[in-house]
Amino acid sequence: MFKHTLIALATLVPLAASHSAFFHPSMFGFNVTDDTFPFDNRPAVPLKNRTFNDWWFHGHLNFTPNAGDIFELPAGMPATAEIACNKNATSYFATANNGTDARNATNPNDVCPGKNSTAYHTLGKDDLGGCALAIAYNSNATEVAPSDFTVFSVNQTCVFTRFTDFQVPARMPACPPGGCTCAFFWIHTQNSGGNPESESILQ
Ligand SMILES: *[C@@H]1O[C@H](CO)[C@@H](O)[C@H](O)[C@H]1NC(C)=O
Ligand SMILES: *[C@@H]1O[C@H](CO)[C@@H](O)[C@H](O)[C@H]1NC(C)=O
Ligand SMILES: *[C@@H]1O[C@H](CO)[C@@H](O)[C@H](O)[C@H]1NC(C)=O
Ligand SMILES: *[C@@H]1O[C@H](CO)[C@@H](O)[C@H](O)[C@H]1NC(C)=O
Ligand SMILES: *[C@@H]1O[C@H](CO)[C@@H](O)[C@H](O)[C@H]1NC(C)=O
Ligand SMILES: *[C@@H]1O[C@H](CO)[C@@H](O)[C@H](O)[C@H]1NC(C)=O
Ligand SMILES: *[C@@H]1O[C@H](CO)[C@@H](O)[C@H](O)[C@H]1NC(C)=O
Ligand SMILES: *[C@@H]1O[C@H](CO)[C@@H](O)[C@H](O)[C@H]1NC(C)=O
Repeated sequence: MFKHTLIALATLVPLAASHSAFFHPSMFGFNVTDDTFPFDNRPAVPLKNRTFNDWWFHGHLNFTPNAGDIFELPAGMPATAEIACNKNATSYFATANNGTDARNATNPNDVCPGKNSTAYHTLGKDDLGGCALAIAYNSNATEVAPSDFTVFSVNQTCVFTRFTDFQVPARMPACPPGGCTCAFFWIHTQNSGGNPESESILQ
């Protein structure tokens, strides 16, 4: 008998990140660089004022993850997200910026090394909007609509640490064969600039 059900995520979709993103090989657009699109459409680039197609999946719906690259959601346990302002400040730096490791050697939780926290829109731990993970029980991302997503976990002290835990409910139903499709949402406060409504697609 298994104590925990392992829920496999086929895909991870950073929908709302502006100046920070949830990086993982299971995400759409994992290898998108500033050159991939006619405009800079890296995962951390803001989404405000975009058309639906440019906003949905961050415009990365055709930049699918490799088969087998899944983000696991262990039921009843925390799942740890890795959030940074640039891919080169994550564990996946080797596939960004010619392999330069930009992580902060003395502070593994530094979201944006070398930058003020205003780069990820916070003045401190008491100035955070929070993040959410949502799930759609369909492995076929092209079939998923915004209304298919259900938020199942939030972290209110987010974006503040590169490694951020999301508690996965113990009674999360298992995903269909092929996994589920998930979305990452972030809302920040207005204090360090930028309109927080640009990220508020939690409903
Ligand atoms: C979005 O559109 C509004 C209204 O046109 C405008 O005031 C605002 O500057 C735009 N924001 C961005 C980030 O383009
Ligand atoms: C991302 O780039 C790495 C290094 O080139 C490659 O191994 C990996 O398959 C790529 N992933 C996707 C989803 O294209
Ligand atoms: C990667 O290296 C090439 C060749 O040295 C250079 O032209 C390019 O600017 C580098 N790109 C980044 C993002 O550092
Ligand atoms: C990390 O990537 C950002 C954005 O491309 C770049 O500005 C920065 O110089 C890079 N850091 C390092 C240490 O290469
Ligand atoms: C790394 O983190 C430490 C502790 O927060 C900070 O003092 C230092 O300025 C950071 N280094 C860089 C390059 O951001
Ligand atoms: C970061 O920016 C804020 C707002 O401009 C400023 O008040 C603060 O002193 C800066 N912090 C550092 C460490 O430079
Ligand atoms: C995903 O859904 C689309 C639209 O319904 C369909 O055309 C496609 O065949 C499906 N892909 C898979 C792998 O089932
Ligand atoms: C939010 O993430 C932080 C950093 O990983 C963690 O310490 C905290 O327990 C998390 N909060 C919740 C409610 O899971």
